Amino acid sequence: MVNSKAYPHTRTSSSVKFLSRKPSPFVITLYIIFLFAFAISVFLFNTRAILEDEPSPLISEVSESQSSRVPDDQLWGATFNNGLQPCVRPTAKYKEAQESHRYITVKSNGGLNQMRTGIADMVAVAHIMNATLVIPQLDKRSFWQDSSTFSDIFDEFHFISTLQGDVNVIKELPKELESVPRARKHFTSWSGVAYYEEMTHLWKDYQVIHVAKSDSRLANNDLPIDIQRLRCRALYYALHFSPSIESLGKKLVERLRSRTGRYIALHLRYEKDMLSFTGCTHGLTEAESEELRIMRENTNHWKVKKINSTEQRIEGLCPLTPKEVGIFLQALGYPPSTSIYVAAGEIYGGNTHLLELTSRFPNLVFKERLAEPQELKQFSNHASQMAALDYIISVESDVFIPSYSGNMARAVEGHRRFLGHLKTIIPDRKGLVKLFDGLDSGQLTEGSSLSRLVQQMHKYRKGSPRRRKKVQHQELRGRARFRTEESFYENPYPECICKSKVRGHT
Ligand SMILES: *[C@@H]1O[C@H](CO)[C@@H](O)[C@H](O)[C@H]1NC(C)=O
Ligand SMILES: *[C@@H]1O[C@H](CO)[C@@H](O)[C@H](O)[C@H]1NC(C)=O
Repeated sequence: MVNSKAYPHTRTSSSVKFLSRKPSPFVITLYIIFLFAFAISVFLFNTRAILEDEPSPLISEVSESQSSRVPDDQLWGATFNNGLQPCVRPTAKYKEAQESHRYITVKSNGGLNQMRTGIADMVAVAHIMNATLVIPQLDKRSFWQDSSTFSDIFDEFHFISTLQGDVNVIKELPKELESVPRARKHFTSWSGVAYYEEMTHLWKDYQVIHVAKSDSRLANNDLPIDIQRLRCRALYYALHFSPSIESLGKKLVERLRSRTGRYIALHLRYEKDMLSFTGCTHGLTEAESEELRIMRENTNHWKVKKINSTEQRIEGLCPLTPKEVGIFLQALGYPPSTSIYVAAGEIYGGNTHLLELTSRFPNLVFKERLAEPQELKQFSNHASQMAALDYIISVESDVFIPSYSGNMARAVEGHRRFLGHLKTIIPDRKGLVKLFDGLDSGQLTEGSSLSRLVQQMHKYRKGSPRRRKKVQHQELRGRARFRTEESFYENPYPECICKSKVRGHT
């Protein structure tokens, strides 16, 4: 699925012929003018790319002449990616892995995408620490209670063979080491290379290090380029889903395309756990709000118990409701006939809440409908495997739209950037909430003026190239500061994405 798109053919330049004859002074002047103009246009393009995703003012004047009928190309067309491609090859300085009799065992925590990115980080950590990596154990106690092992979800053989030269990976710790004492470590979150180099002092006393948690153990920024590229190789090339998941995922994408042609993948994060965790009860009944509050109270590892839903929503910290998604998509210009694949678990309140979306967009497609019951049967009791199917269908979609910024949304966005900046529309939830409230209070009405405001607000939020944002809150210190950074896997540009000519050699 990934490889087919990863290395598009490069084109040869047609300017060679132009320079081969002996040029007159006039031609040279023209050529210099041309070069100058070209340099300026490149500069302008880059400035534009960097400006992308900057917060836009809520209500800015848009010229009245603009038509509300949105051209097809703007709805479905690819983003302008300026010839950027994946580049993950190591530099000349990269040191290949040597055989090592020091081992790292890992317990991956979190849901599917937290585990995936955590595993990619552990590959990099094992490389830095010159260790052999034992296939990670997966989290079975997370909210999803999924009993899947690594090889149930991922292609173990492919993982091991793809990483040859980067890190030695073995299925199990050698028998004679199973009972020796291990250094049990909670590595510090968002650490750099120096931290892990220092941690090699553990090898003096231990032959095995056990890593108790794998999420966010490695910094997003300021790591050597070879480490960043190794993270990309691990996530995008080595960590494929198991053959049965890959093949059903592909089949469902083909089925969707043959039935509906183009489709939006909507990550509708409107599931019970998410609403309870975020404390977002906008549009819900008293009884529903109460049910969510009780669930939050009773979930030990969710630290924040008291949440004011109104304040949470105004800050843009709530997932969009199905109704809000409907208004949003319509305002963006998508026609009611648009096919929308709903990448999600069970929607809270089922049809009652969904109806507010299906009334605007009746062509909602769920995997339970898309797949035959017997096709889904082997996956259905495994939330992570179902999430993997959603992941595949989302990465392959024409347009990906997440209703909330969770791990899945970030992972899919980053993967789509990596594959060639496929169109991904990130709702400006904070800005949108003001518009939705304007609708509720009657200050705004749906139609062309709302449409213009929404389109203006999302002009630079469609996934075109820009560098990863570093520190976003200068006033924060230490770890809180890292927490607000854009995640490496949400946007691996510039380290793993570059112009074809310099691919792998910068
Ligand atoms: C890893 O091994 C290489 C030699 O193979 C050595 O140069 C390097 O310093 C080692 N790294 C650490 C962190 O021990
Ligand atoms: C929640 O916050 C809003 C806005 O700050 C406030 O008006 C409201 O009274 C708060 N609700 C509760 C239950 O505290």
